Amino acid sequence: MRFSGKVALVTGGGSGIGRATARAFAAEGAAVMVTGRNEGALKETVELIDADGGQAGYVIADVTREEDVAAMVRETVQRYGGLHVAINNAGVLTPPTPLADLGTDTWRHVLDVNLTGVFLSMKHEIAHMRTHGGGAIVNTSSNIGAHGRRPGFSAYSTSKGAVSLLTRAAAIDHIADGIRINAVSPGANEGPMSALPGESHEERAARYASLIPLGRIGTLDEVSAAVLWLASDEAGFAVGHDLVIDGGVTA
Ligand SMILES: NC(=O)c1ccc[n+]([C@@H]2O[C@H](COP(=O)([O-])OP(=O)(O)OC[C@H]3O[C@@H](n4cnc5c(N)ncnc54)[C@H](OP(=O)(O)O)[C@@H]3O)[C@@H](O)[C@H]2O)c1
Repeated sequence: MRFSGKVALVTGGGSGIGRATARAFAAEGAAVMVTGRNEGALKETVELIDADGGQAGYVIADVTREEDVAAMVRETVQRYGGLHVAINNAGVLTPPTPLADLGTDTWRHVLDVNLTGVFLSMKHEIAHMRTHGGGAIVNTSSNIGAHGRRPGFSAYSTSKGAVSLLTRAAAIDHIADGIRINAVSPGANEGPMSALPGESHEERAARYASLIPLGRIGTLDEVSAAVLWLASDEAGFAVGHDLVIDGGVTA
């Protein structure tokens, strides 16, 4: 129960990695607020946590809208009495497209959600944490942010590479406020983002098996375990770290 008495906010908490992470925090004693745009998905996460005996609520928030982000932090604090841990996990991936064919609107959208969304989230989370005893933030980056070898992913890789750098810069800016800021960089895992449209779990697993040195995609639990460790006191000396969990792809 590493998070007893703590309040955790998870963006993109209605699905995939965000849902698994929210459930893991709740299982370790945190009151969890999940956010996203899809109310039905958020409600499902809350129901799953309720069924597990945990405490959770949701607030609808688009991370590209600063007023939504400010409200998600405000409502978390009002409802649960604080904010100790924030997981900035919301993200989008658009279909692979060579740079010269990429729509400028698509480029802006990916950067807006994946990068500006993390900036806005941290800005408002830190504004609370710095005046209330500090906290821990973990941003979801991607191993694709560390290389350009996936053709057609220029916008996504750029956004995630920038999230990893923003994590380090923010960590230094706010270390004196008692806020530890780190990132995880998952490789392909069971989250929805690594699946092609209509692809079954088995088809996806087979497609990735030969691409990943470990021979398989990651599980959601393997990603959430890394997030929880970085957010916990056990990682008290980890600052500005980008924890890669990718089965050896970038080794
Ligand atoms: N799955 C992988 O293999 C993998 C690998 C590396 C990194 N990642 C990263 O892990 C994170 C989660 O991915 P996932 O696989 O779990 O996929 P996912 O289920 O599609 O998760 C993305 C989440 O982001 C939310 N979101 C998207 N746009 C948003 C916006 N404008 N405002 C607020 N929330 C928004 C979505 O919720 P709503 O639709 O409700 O808004 C959704 O819950 C992403 O940042 C992704 O880049 C995934």
